[in-house]
Amino acid sequence: MQAKKQPHVVELAPGDYYWCACGRSKRQPYCDGSHRGTTFSPIKVEQRESGQVKLCGCKQSATKPYCDCTHEKLQLRLPPRIRRRDG
Ligand code: FES
Repeated sequence: MQAKKQPHVVELAPGDYYWCACGRSKRQPYCDGSHRGTTFSPIKVEQRESGQVKLCGCKQSATKPYCDCTHEKLQLRLPPRIRRRDG
């Protein structure tokens, strides 16, 4: 499930966070336990210093939980608009 088509740019204080891998969480980009009953598990983010990070929103990054710009390619793969035939 794709939660968002762009990354979540967030300021994190030092600490541990859990990134939502399933896309179901209502607290994106963080886990709220909604993955229960799925094959997904949250990924721990160990933030050592305060700073800005780009957490993946599309859930397709090869460097989860961080954005690797895969979302840019996904947008190109959206289905073409269906055109109405007139006549
Ligand atoms: S938001 Fe998923 S790769 Fe950028």
